[in-house]
Amino acid sequence: MNSSKLLLTLGTMLLAGLCSAAIVTKNLRCEYLRDPRGIDAANPRLSWITTSSRRGEMQTAYQVLVASSKKLIDGDKGDLWDSGKVASDESCQIAYAGKPLISREDCFWKIRTWDRDGNPGAWSQMAQWQMGLLQPTDWDAQWIIANPPTSTAAESLIIRHATYGAAESGGVVDVTAALADRVKDNHLNIVVNNTALGKDPASNVVKRLQVDYEMGGKVFKKEVNENQKLVLPEESESVWCLRKSFRANSSVQRAVLYATALGLYEVHINGKRVGDHVLAPDWTDYRKRVRYQAYDVTSLMKRGPNAITALLANGWFSGHIGNGGNQYFGKAPVFLAQLELTYADGRTERIATDASWKSHRSPILSSDFMLGEDYDARMEVKGWDKPGLNESTWLPVAVRDESFRRLEAQVTEPVRQICELKPKAVSEPKPGTWIYDLGQNMVGVVRLKVSAPAGTQVTLRHAEMLNPNGTLYTQNLRGAPSVDHYTCKGDGVEIWQPHFTFHGFRYVEISGLPSRPKDDAVTGIVIASDTTRTGEFACSDARVNQLQSNIQWGQRGNYVSVPTDCPQRDERLGWMGDAEVFIRTATYNADVAGFFTKWLVDVDDGQSAAGSFSDVNPNTMGGNGVPAWGDAGVICPWTIYEVYGDKRILEQHLPAMKKWVDYLLLHSDGLIRVKDRGDDYGDWLSIGANTPKDLIGTAFFAYSTHLLANSYRALGQEAEAEHYSQLFDDIKTAFNKRYVANDGRIEGNTQCGYAMALKFDLLPDDLRIKAAQYLEEDIKAKGGHLSTGFVGVSYLLPVLTQMGKADTAYELLLQDTFPSWLFSVKQGATTIWERWDGWTPEKGFQDPGMNSFNHYSLGSCGEYLFGGIGGIRPASPGFKTIRIDPVVCEGLNWASTRFDSIQGRIATSWKQEGKHFALEVTVPANTTATVYIPAQDTASITESGKPAAQAEGVKFLRQETGKAVFEVGSGTYKFTSENQAIGLSRF
Ligand code: BGC
Repeated sequence: MNSSKLLLTLGTMLLAGLCSAAIVTKNLRCEYLRDPRGIDAANPRLSWITTSSRRGEMQTAYQVLVASSKKLIDGDKGDLWDSGKVASDESCQIAYAGKPLISREDCFWKIRTWDRDGNPGAWSQMAQWQMGLLQPTDWDAQWIIANPPTSTAAESLIIRHATYGAAESGGVVDVTAALADRVKDNHLNIVVNNTALGKDPASNVVKRLQVDYEMGGKVFKKEVNENQKLVLPEESESVWCLRKSFRANSSVQRAVLYATALGLYEVHINGKRVGDHVLAPDWTDYRKRVRYQAYDVTSLMKRGPNAITALLANGWFSGHIGNGGNQYFGKAPVFLAQLELTYADGRTERIATDASWKSHRSPILSSDFMLGEDYDARMEVKGWDKPGLNESTWLPVAVRDESFRRLEAQVTEPVRQICELKPKAVSEPKPGTWIYDLGQNMVGVVRLKVSAPAGTQVTLRHAEMLNPNGTLYTQNLRGAPSVDHYTCKGDGVEIWQPHFTFHGFRYVEISGLPSRPKDDAVTGIVIASDTTRTGEFACSDARVNQLQSNIQWGQRGNYVSVPTDCPQRDERLGWMGDAEVFIRTATYNADVAGFFTKWLVDVDDGQSAAGSFSDVNPNTMGGNGVPAWGDAGVICPWTIYEVYGDKRILEQHLPAMKKWVDYLLLHSDGLIRVKDRGDDYGDWLSIGANTPKDLIGTAFFAYSTHLLANSYRALGQEAEAEHYSQLFDDIKTAFNKRYVANDGRIEGNTQCGYAMALKFDLLPDDLRIKAAQYLEEDIKAKGGHLSTGFVGVSYLLPVLTQMGKADTAYELLLQDTFPSWLFSVKQGATTIWERWDGWTPEKGFQDPGMNSFNHYSLGSCGEYLFGGIGGIRPASPGFKTIRIDPVVCEGLNWASTRFDSIQGRIATSWKQEGKHFALEVTVPANTTATVYIPAQDTASITESGKPAAQAEGVKFLRQETGKAVFEVGSGTYKFTSENQAIGLSRF
């Protein structure tokens, strides 16, 4: 390069450097999702994050372009919407404000932002979304079902005689009436056990049911062992294939499949699986709405013959769901699909489900969440999902009128396969029975890899724990036997995994094989709603790190389509109390905004006309009005608003939230919740403490009212905010009068009572100090142990810290004798247990009637790991301003925390060595943070080696007792101080 060219180049670079901004715009999302298809919202909301290599970066303006083609957006043209330059630092939930969008519309978009000096950054990468089918008239498809189940459904089922008794000898009782009682619409589907049959004729032995029944005029006999299923008519459990062959006469330029089911489906086109959803569609209250999915299937289409085939299973619609529900929403599953083709010449064609489809029994003989899946590989039909199949043995389908159902687009990440686990050990507790230990209590299925003669039936049983003799502990599964069967076809190595069931387990037992299976015969396939992981936490105590791992696994395993209580026994319901106590922790571990956007609609769907929220949602149990459970209908939307700055979720749910609070008002006496508390669960599973239930009810009444007032305020509805603030004050007065003594003692004198009163701001200032003192005294009196159940547990550590008692919070967290969080960790737990004493060395297993080893509720202390020890908390909704205030006490000497907020990554990493404290903190662009550094005075504090007050982008605000407070903009900062570890954080 000659010298003039060099000068020119340098000059250009310099100029570019001066003009170009340091700001980079990325992570574009529409309605919380990346490049989603099937958006129903008329004005979808767009979010992005900004990053920058320099400190104190702010977005001063943005421009959004939305175009109808890739070509236009590549040329920086927004024919659908060009926002122009908008002076704003907002980067989340920007509502689309362009031309009205129509069904199926493709929207390509990008963003540029201006930095703090007013320089524009480069355009972001392109992102896209596609509108869904907005009108019912967009659907040509008809709901279809395989023929046999409908024909048998009309035949009457009569139980002639049934006995139940010890399989080996004696103790037989007549259960004809009990069994006949379980017949519903000529169907019977039960797990044979004492609960289902109403008696236990011989305790401690395996029993058997013998039944004579009549169906369609014919008489049959059947025998079923205890804990096995009995399904009549037998084929109603089987999974059918639905298929349509068609020709594409010219080349397909674009193909989109819209599909859903009342039940579960899996679609294949030309031999390839469509999408990666598992257990689609998500569980909703089908009486109110069904979610459909949209897939781009262009790459699967062929010119000439094509075939689309679907497997259709019962799932939540017509299989077993929790607490005894079977065929709760309907008798048999139905499928709906519309494949929309656009040919290269512009012609369009639709292949929609209708009477012309064909059906065939699949090798999946039965599939059910609670019971498991049976597969006979000998029944596989070669080429079943490919074009060119001889369909002569395929049967017609029936069309069912379900047109009254409301179809809505998927608004959340689907359930997917998340990861795989290899076994850690294999044992053979009984000859011919092998148990594989996956080393982790997980949720999903097993992928089986075996080689055995045709007809060999392999049985897979699942359990979370082992009995002392090394066999599976399955009693706690109750009516969910969780048994899968695979019958080999006998042609070498066979690989199979269930399609439409899931289990909660760590141990898998294989039996039925003629010889010892190989070590790789079993792989654990973990499934979960695929919420993006946003948080990591580690500290100097390995036990606490295991606790955090247990919390995350608990979340993963219980966020399966809806937030469930547990994944293994015959329950797995969207329990409101569990969801409400854990949601704050959940928001740190993963981006759950979409997940709750979906579920909160189910919650409103379950609300009674009078305003009470039900105990579980989708609502399948009916119970309602329960304190702390019903309040999830207010607490959850509020939490999503606080964490993601989502005002639309508040707007959407405000009417239901108001109805709930008004219901509580009407169903209280003098503002005290002495009545109508449904199945009131109190401080569920507390240990050695009894918090009065009406007190809990009144405290939550106050809290929900307070959050409702805050919600109105956030939406600028001042008059309503004022009204409910006044109601909150009145409830507070009533609460104090009724439950609080002059010396600050709260009725019941329990940790839960004090923790709620402090967290919900129910006490006058002077009594707050007293309440904190009583709370601490009770913990000390119990030898540094907690006594709370689900309701109080999440508040303990935050309120202790807030009241200047962080040392006691640490003591509780690090306690490992019973009852405590680390007790189960010490026993080798890999998930959070339902009960503090699920298993103890002295007593062994708790009552198997209720003893899950994967319940996340007691893991709601996770919020404190991120927000307390990690010190990362929102100072305003959506983390637009951040509080960095790590709680540093004896017991831990370092902690490292990261949280990918909706604004971008926030991270802290601190170390305490003697009196020397070091904190590295990362703050995302376009936000500011207030940083609290433990220090007795400001003078000793440095940032990147300089006195902090002089460091670039660091502003000293004030010295508080034991803490120096600074304000910083974005960037990474390294603070040090010479302090005492005195734990004076506020929470
Ligand atoms: C569930 C809980 C739930 C509770 C109500 C249990 O059976 O597993 O987690 O919240 O019932 O008390």
